[in-house]
Amino acid sequence: MKVYVLVEDYSGYESPFLAQHGVSFLVEKDGKRILFDTGQSAEPILHNMKLLGIEPSSIDYVFLSHCHYDHTGGLLGILKAVGRRIPVIAHPEIFRRHFTMSPYLRSVGIPFRRAEIEELADLYLTPKPLEIVEGIRSTGEVRSREEFERGHLQVYTIKNGQVQEDTIMDDMSLVAKTPEGLVIISGCSHAGIVSIVRHAIRLTGEKRVRAVIGGFHLIDASEERIERTVREFLELGVKEVYTGHCTGLRAEAAFLKAYGERFRKLHSGMVVEFEGD
Ligand SMILES: [Fe+2]
Ligand SMILES: [Fe+2]
Repeated sequence: MKVYVLVEDYSGYESPFLAQHGVSFLVEKDGKRILFDTGQSAEPILHNMKLLGIEPSSIDYVFLSHCHYDHTGGLLGILKAVGRRIPVIAHPEIFRRHFTMSPYLRSVGIPFRRAEIEELADLYLTPKPLEIVEGIRSTGEVRSREEFERGHLQVYTIKNGQVQEDTIMDDMSLVAKTPEGLVIISGCSHAGIVSIVRHAIRLTGEKRVRAVIGGFHLIDASEERIERTVREFLELGVKEVYTGHCTGLRAEAAFLKAYGERFRKLHSGMVVEFEGD
């Protein structure tokens, strides 16, 4: 299995790749390619794909980890470049109104209507786990969230005609079973990265976690939460950590200190290969 970092907040050192605040990974297994999130816009993704020698038409599926614009904004541009109808897998609530009021009221959700996507692709919406290719499935909704990871993100939605706090229940990850344990890929980990890892272990019945990849959204987390996250990772036996995007420098430094060589900072153009599949 291979994971390509198509776009990420950091471009890498002396890198020809473009960076953008957002996430887009390509997960490749047994000749099938799943595009995990689509950044804010298609241009840097398509630019970086060209450098990596990946044809957009070779994408077989799109998986959207949650509604945020920095994970969904490139979707239409990517689907146009793919040039045929492919499945787009996401949570059914991904199209809800989703906004922040800081520093002013604005939408931070998916910038497209459902019909615009359905013109180009086939939606597969479900809150449940869904196997996309053999051995790789969506975690579905992560309902059991650790107390210490419960939301500090101030985002809102409209429910029953009124403004309400939004707990981002559409946050889903991918989990791949490899001979050396699970590889868990997350977008922003709004459900809490420790909750996601525990959920993936319960879902698959596999206790060994080979790698966790993605943004952990600890950028504004307390020192206590960061310390506890690293400690729980070690206790769960997570072998390798690949993180960036919304993880934040303090949490990255904490993981680097605990994991040493087994920690890697994500950057656009990075390719991670999990051998033995
Ligand atoms: Fe994000
Ligand atoms: Fe997010």
